[in-house]
Amino acid sequence: MKTLLCGKNGQISHELQLSLAGQGNELVCLSRTDMDLLEPDSIRSQMRKHAPDLIINAAGHTAVDQAESEPELAMEINGTACGVLAEEAAALGAALIHFSTDYVFDGAKTSPYTEMDVPAPLGAYGNSKLAGEQAIQAVGGQYLILRTSWVYSLHGRNFLLTMQRLLQEREELRVVDDQVGAPTWAGSIAQATSQLIDKWQAGNRNWGIYHLTNQGETSWFGFASAIADQLKAAGKPCARLVPIPSSEYPTPAKRPLNSRLDGRKLAQDWQVSLPDWRTALAECLRQPR
Ligand SMILES: NC(=O)c1ccc[n+]([C@@H]2O[C@H](COP(=O)([O-])OP(=O)(O)OC[C@H]3O[C@@H](n4cnc5c(N)ncnc54)[C@H](OP(=O)(O)O)[C@@H]3O)[C@@H](O)[C@H]2O)c1
Repeated sequence: MKTLLCGKNGQISHELQLSLAGQGNELVCLSRTDMDLLEPDSIRSQMRKHAPDLIINAAGHTAVDQAESEPELAMEINGTACGVLAEEAAALGAALIHFSTDYVFDGAKTSPYTEMDVPAPLGAYGNSKLAGEQAIQAVGGQYLILRTSWVYSLHGRNFLLTMQRLLQEREELRVVDDQVGAPTWAGSIAQATSQLIDKWQAGNRNWGIYHLTNQGETSWFGFASAIADQLKAAGKPCARLVPIPSSEYPTPAKRPLNSRLDGRKLAQDWQVSLPDWRTALAECLRQPR
């Protein structure tokens, strides 16, 4: 089987390249230089050149605050380009796996969001990601839209790496405590995606939208505290953490207070579930850099 992976240098993509290697897969990885999602012609020509059986789109405009000042750009990359990828996948008879986000919801619900809940994004990033989902759904065919949340790894830019640095540089760190979600290791996403591909190859055809996060829940403050615990256990210097409400940490993009995603549909339809977020964090921290 030939798999084409978009977003070669991203954090989920990095882990996917490890998980998918050695699966008897021919894996073609494309960076922004190889295929710019801002250029539909570039997408079409690369898809036709490689003619994959499976397209995985792990690329995206992921700078949530920046998207507020460049919503058209975010929309082209996260929205329009997904429609082009879906059309090309359908024309090739290929399957498409695409990653989406908890930010399609406004966070007003008091329990975890299911795939049946109606999206209502709070900002430009969430709007553009929802447009991408809708563009893929409009084309139909063989697709999995995997909504995940609070992604981190030992590569790229993410909360884990930022906290590890700031906790060692500062004496005190104020972290938001009223946004709740599931920190999700990119390695867990990649392992689950690899299992989904195996199950598809074995005949599962339950295409659609699914929620895919590490299990359990915490706040950003709770996540930071777990990272701090690891630093302390390693005998490293560590700032004092202070919980604050979102109102004391204003950002250009408004974030959902409730980012919890219910993963039961994925477990039911695909028999795939991710480990608890604390287990995944420990596994991530054991990886070689
Ligand atoms: N990070 C999160 O917390 C989170 C949460 C939920 C869902 N997701 C979704 O998961 C997916 C992957 O996230 P991630 O955190 O792994 O992303 P990431 O580390 O920010 O990587 C995104 C990748 O997209 C590429 N890209 C950006 N603009 C492009 C363009 N115009 N053409 C081609 N490639 C382009 C980037 O290329 P360069 O390396 O050249 O910049 C980068 O390699 C995204 O769809 C994101 O929306 C992420």
